[in-house]
Amino acid sequence: MAEIQICSNLIHLRNDHISYALYLLPGGIPMHLYFGARLNEINPLPFLRRSMLSEDGSFSVQQCALDHTPQEYPSFGLGDARQGAVGVRRSDGTRSVDLRFVSAEIVDEKPALEGLPATFGESCQTLRLLLRDALTGLAAELFYTIFDDCDAIARSVRFQNEGSDALYLESAFSLCLDLPDSRYDLLTLSGAWARERGMVRRPLFAGEQGVSSARGASSAQASPFLALLRSETTEASGEVYGMALVYSGNFRASVQVDQYDSARVLMGLNDFDFEWKLEAGERFQTPEALLVFSNGGLDGMSAQFHRLCDWHLTRGAYARKPRPVLINNWEATYFDFNEEKLLSIARTAASVGVELFVLDDGWFGRRDDDTTSLGDWQVDTRKLPAGMDGLIDKIHALNMRFGLWFEPEMVSPESELYRAHPDWCIHIDGRERIESRNQLTLDLSRADVCEHVYHAVADMLGAHQIDYVKWDMNRSFSNIGSALLPPDRQKELPHRYMLGLYGVLERLLQAFPHVLFESCASGGGRFDLGMLHYMPQTWCSDNTDALSRCFIQYGTSLVFPPHTMGAHVSAVPNHQTGRLTSLEARFGAAAFGAFGYELDLNRLSPEELEAVRLQIHRFKDMRGLLFFGAFHRLLSPHDGAYTAWMTVSRERDEAVLMVMRMQAQASNVPPVIVRLRGLDESLRYLVVETGEIYGGDELMRSGLCCALSQGDAACGLYMLKKA
Ligand code: DGJ
Repeated sequence: MAEIQICSNLIHLRNDHISYALYLLPGGIPMHLYFGARLNEINPLPFLRRSMLSEDGSFSVQQCALDHTPQEYPSFGLGDARQGAVGVRRSDGTRSVDLRFVSAEIVDEKPALEGLPATFGESCQTLRLLLRDALTGLAAELFYTIFDDCDAIARSVRFQNEGSDALYLESAFSLCLDLPDSRYDLLTLSGAWARERGMVRRPLFAGEQGVSSARGASSAQASPFLALLRSETTEASGEVYGMALVYSGNFRASVQVDQYDSARVLMGLNDFDFEWKLEAGERFQTPEALLVFSNGGLDGMSAQFHRLCDWHLTRGAYARKPRPVLINNWEATYFDFNEEKLLSIARTAASVGVELFVLDDGWFGRRDDDTTSLGDWQVDTRKLPAGMDGLIDKIHALNMRFGLWFEPEMVSPESELYRAHPDWCIHIDGRERIESRNQLTLDLSRADVCEHVYHAVADMLGAHQIDYVKWDMNRSFSNIGSALLPPDRQKELPHRYMLGLYGVLERLLQAFPHVLFESCASGGGRFDLGMLHYMPQTWCSDNTDALSRCFIQYGTSLVFPPHTMGAHVSAVPNHQTGRLTSLEARFGAAAFGAFGYELDLNRLSPEELEAVRLQIHRFKDMRGLLFFGAFHRLLSPHDGAYTAWMTVSRERDEAVLMVMRMQAQASNVPPVIVRLRGLDESLRYLVVETGEIYGGDELMRSGLCCALSQGDAACGLYMLKKA
């Protein structure tokens, strides 16, 4: 049960497993006391002593007391020389803000965030802490929601300028967490295109460290997530703080270790290239940050994020529903297709049990390569002479659903749209319009552009029976300027862009609730909790190589449930890495995700096609278990020769295990022993593939002996059923 107690100056949020406590210092500064495993009671005295404050908590700003006081929402300028959570510039150019307590209120719900994605839920309580700066009139409402069923706190801040002069927010983080020591490792998900979300773990050091994006999207290079772990923390045990932002644009997540070895974590909008003008009376809402605590290692942290994602974040008809097996034509044909070619792939796919056919890039304008037509969303009748309906009817006649690719946020300079509206893209007059993949970014900070983008997609969805949409976005921002924003609001563009995009997505979701949306950004370049609020799955990476996918999906699963990760079996040699892997390995890597195929099935031998038919049959058998079960990482590709992960049904009577040896080894390799997790130790399980029966305790403590074949990416998939 989530509950919030306010007792004099002490505020304590807790549920069955976690506590979060803060203390209002006599001057009205909210001091951070504690976040971690549940406490029945909390005495602020040790925390006041640790902060070298007097026993009643009184302090003097002159003595720089705030420099060693853990705070809930610190600002720069009051003697705390660490990075602040908020920075404000007044019209006279001075930059200091002093937020003091006004009131605290408990609400029995999770308030929505204006224009931004956020968690929702009924069984939760929210603390609304109102602070105010007397000089500027800036009010800040700090929101903290604690859930009944998740060991997480959702935090966000809403500002209002209650003064009479304009103010400029120079930074506005969503959360600050001041920890009393810095004996932690910092874990982030860092990578690149086709190498998304690699796990990077290193001890904290004195000074600043962290991850950020200034690319206009959360990015493949850094994920809006960080975790702090004790050095002894492993997958299965130990303390972890996990933090993730529900946002898809520029962000910063940083840790500053100070002179007293305290660690300050900040997470929110990137303060680089950001500013927001608040006219008198105007409001500004920060994105939401999720703060998770687990005593059960990274496995425990991920379980909390997965639960938040499934039960408190994703929406729409497919939110808690297993997904159809799809086939996507991208790697099968690229731009070179016509109706007959697509139908021949679809017919074969239907014959082996595929349920959804997705037509990727190249169906509109004159798009024979990536140099033209983004923005001209009219069907190319050279390729599809019977029009979109002609194709859709034939796909539906095969008893398959139909999906379509869009890249609505972009425009090709070689397009009707660009010729009609050259000022609709992000640009700076007089500067080169730097193209990336031969395209420019539409300026979604503009309402007229958003209206156009909405209709470009909505008109297609309204006119045709489209069951699925792949929403792609293939470049970062450059020369960031908007034709409509005044000079002192130009730095608002990246965040206004996100608000515009979220507005379009919200309208589409409401208008077409039956459509399954999958987001994509050159693969997994915008895989974040923000996008998952509108689209329940994301194309995980353009890299479809089974071995690379082990790394990518392993890291991605730290925050995101496997069924949110688009994962396809593709052709060999792999188009990105050139690697040869078995069909079995490609299936093993993809099966735990939003599963599908992305190759021309007609090029397979009859034996391979039969293997695909059996894979799909097998997947459908496991689909419910994989979707609703609890996911566990067992062996990390970062740590050794193997990757292993498993999913256990909620009733713990069934499980699926995937084990892959990454590279061939020359000598005779003995079978690998994998210790399982999440089973019921009092049950006995049949390993379907071997016919052997083992106790749950045995499988978790001693392990399952997995004999794999020779070669690279040797993969074993095992089904366990209660014996
Ligand atoms: C990038 C995506 O990640 C690919 O899957 C594909 O849709 C291409 N764009 C199409 O241009």
